[in-house]
Amino acid sequence: SKFDEERLRSLIRAVPDWPEAGVMFRDITTLLQDPQGMRMVHNTFADRYRDQNITHIGALDARGFLLGAPLADALGLPLVIFRKPGKLPAETISVEYTLEYGKAALEVHKDALTENSRVVLIDDLIATGGTLLAANTLIERLGGKVIEAAAIIDLPALGGSAKLETAGIPYFALTSY
Ligand code: PRP
Ligand code: HPA
Repeated sequence: SKFDEERLRSLIRAVPDWPEAGVMFRDITTLLQDPQGMRMVHNTFADRYRDQNITHIGALDARGFLLGAPLADALGLPLVIFRKPGKLPAETISVEYTLEYGKAALEVHKDALTENSRVVLIDDLIATGGTLLAANTLIERLGGKVIEAAAIIDLPALGGSAKLETAGIPYFALTSY
């Protein structure tokens, strides 16, 4: 059960010109369909965050949920979901952030975290970093701290991991393109 980056990369599909011309989309659905590949991914994250006094796993809507739920289960930790607007029923806090075109927002339940929470954030991919930085803002507002932001894929050319670094948020990605 060792991490094999070449094997991981062989399971990620590259789709040219999607969602628009010039974009090479990194598609994890092919990885999701490979149970041994997924087990390798889950074990790698679980091994990294075991014994680090993490208190919560924070997972990002929607593809981050696919990684956050098994990680929370493996470590026996509460799973906190960060959702797109209008999906969470109880009292929420919300943050708006800028996308390449237009705006997005992210929400979390107010009572999902407490002061001194030590959170690992997880998503499938870091592009501009807007999503993970928005989640970090919400966690800080609730008095918690992001110990690390984890992803399967980093796209460094889009600047997100550099932005996380500048913001003082450690990040970890299994591979990059
Ligand atoms: C994608 C991806 C990350 C985010 C990365 O999600 O799953 O959450 O974008 O981009 P960023 O670093 O520029 O914020 P998307 O909004 O497409 O939603 P989905 O997970 O619901 O498919
Ligand atoms: N793949 C998946 N999600 C993304 C990508 C990508 O290449 N770019 C921005 N979000």
